[in-house]
Amino acid sequence: MLENIKKLSEVENLENKKVLVRIGANIPLDENGKIDSDFRLKKIMPTLKFLEEKKAKIILMGHIGRDPEMSLKPVFEWFQNENLKISFDEKTFQNLNEEKIRQLKEKIEKMEAGEILLLDNLRQSELEKKNDLDFSKKIASLAEVYVNEAFSVSHREHASMAGVPEFFQEKYIGLLFQKEIEHLEKILNPGENSIAIIGGAKIKTKLPLIEKISEKFSLNILGGGIANNFYKFSGYKIGKSIFDEKFLDLKKYLSEKLFLPNIVIVDDGVNKKVEKEIFEVQKNDNILDISPNSFFEIEEKLKEAKFVFFNGPLGYYEAGYTDGTKYLLEILANENNYFIAGGGDTADVIFELGLEKNVDWISTGGGALVEFLANEKLPALEILKK
Ligand code: 3PG
Repeated sequence: MLENIKKLSEVENLENKKVLVRIGANIPLDENGKIDSDFRLKKIMPTLKFLEEKKAKIILMGHIGRDPEMSLKPVFEWFQNENLKISFDEKTFQNLNEEKIRQLKEKIEKMEAGEILLLDNLRQSELEKKNDLDFSKKIASLAEVYVNEAFSVSHREHASMAGVPEFFQEKYIGLLFQKEIEHLEKILNPGENSIAIIGGAKIKTKLPLIEKISEKFSLNILGGGIANNFYKFSGYKIGKSIFDEKFLDLKKYLSEKLFLPNIVIVDDGVNKKVEKEIFEVQKNDNILDISPNSFFEIEEKLKEAKFVFFNGPLGYYEAGYTDGTKYLLEILANENNYFIAGGGDTADVIFELGLEKNVDWISTGGGALVEFLANEKLPALEILKK
């Protein structure tokens, strides 16, 4: 997968070179604008340390959220606390004209080797999402080397991911991005005794994944909103539970390798957590989690699993419905298997349970991870091959 792609990990000389790094800095903030999870930022640190040691002049660009008013300032403050020599250019992209580019170049010229300049939220300009040629060209003019360290955004053909690298001779895949691909490739060849857990709310995004990997794994456990569609298709009542009516013909996805949990946790309108067999669900019930009791008949298989891929929680995570997810993580995340997890919510539960030491790889990607597995390629990677 990484043939014909130059790797930052193999680069020797970057001294005093201006290196533009696209980072995956889209992190969740709470209602007060404070960072909710710094997982993605922590994973970028080895790249920054590497470039610092190589004495490069480091220019970082990234996006945060979907509201163009949002700023990367909280990310800047987080990096500052990591003892990096870093400065921040606020509102960089709000009006990226020739004068702004001139000022930025002047700033970069004055930077010392190993110093970092963080540019503001790329999505403050609508030209980022449009992959505008002139916008890309202007950004590219700031540096000599391009590094893509934004695996989590690599399914987006935006300027910073697709347009900007076109202008570079010297372009590399970052340290984290490289590791992501090296680990995630293994999911496409999981071998015997392998278990995939596919949860999350949106069936639309997960069906291509189920189609791609379910035959490869020995067992595929479904949960989350996705399972509701499968329950409905199988003829069960799902009451007030979420489902997507566009995806109710699921015949082609059914197989002996698919495990649809048969005991769920519902909010019945009176009590918030009632355990029910799936055939007992009534019209006032809202299915919000999978009961750990669903897994009684496959417990031995779970314990013997040699390869596990865990993608997305089995319940309404944000509202505290985590029993099914926690049960499976506790039994599956152990030293005897190769365990890969993906998606921010799954990562959060792993950290909450302190199970990260038993996890071989936690991906920083959400949508990018699913798209990479479903299509076996990513637009941002293809561009690095040129
Ligand atoms: C992510 O953070 O998972 C990606 O950057 C995608 O964000 P987007 O859906 O807003 O493009």
